[in-house]
Amino acid sequence: MPLFKKKSTAERPLPRHIAIVMDGNGRWAKKRGLPRSAGHISGAKTFKSIALYCNKIGLEYLTVYAFSTENWKRPPEEVAGIMNLLRDYLKDAENFKDENIKVKFIGDPAPLAEDIKALMKKNEDGSKDATGLKLNIAINYGGRDELVHAVRKIVSEDITENEITEQTVSDRLYTAGMPDPDFIIRPSGEYRTSNYLLWQSAYSEYWFSDVLWPDFTPKHLEKAIEEYNRRNRRFGGV
Ligand code: FPP
Repeated sequence: MPLFKKKSTAERPLPRHIAIVMDGNGRWAKKRGLPRSAGHISGAKTFKSIALYCNKIGLEYLTVYAFSTENWKRPPEEVAGIMNLLRDYLKDAENFKDENIKVKFIGDPAPLAEDIKALMKKNEDGSKDATGLKLNIAINYGGRDELVHAVRKIVSEDITENEITEQTVSDRLYTAGMPDPDFIIRPSGEYRTSNYLLWQSAYSEYWFSDVLWPDFTPKHLEKAIEEYNRRNRRFGGV
């Protein structure tokens, strides 16, 4: 009998909220001589498996960056490919009903195609009573854009200068009512925030890795959570 049994993730304390930048799809495809779209297809599969895994281990919140406000600058066929993957996922999400995952989209839906907006609403409405993982999918999301929207809301509500607190702003973000991300994971060897959860990440712990998103597995997530549990979060205190 081993003296020291390694604890499974389920037995270890989990962050409440993990956010992920699903980066490296293009490079994954390039390394294999494949079109970038193949990287996104593979990345979408990784997204599903990681979301299911997070649900299985009892994570409360997972937020993934699927499409940023800046991603419209990509070639139109690449944008169309990502939108089609989103469509496929949203149609397929019906099959995930039994998983008890509550889906929410964060970002500005205005420029998205009408059928995608309808599918997003159907998914949010259809999963609103789910009690498992709360899965936020960031689509046409940008942290600065989110803050501009929040400021516009504050002004339109005629809130006076002295009434404005940090809570006033938090309550008008797409993530209103949710805990800030404790832990942000960015694979693919990039060390940037890329306009992701700018306000909410004030005290988030970051984890970077060279692994490309399509190669990211639950084992990488386990390793990241292990490291998170070794960190000493002080939130500006001592
Ligand atoms: C970043 O990698 C990835 C994206 C901009 C798209 C992410 C989309 C998916 C994983 C699939 C669709 C999502 C859902 C929710 C079904 P990159 O293309 O910038 O990679 P690179 O830096 O290697 O070029």
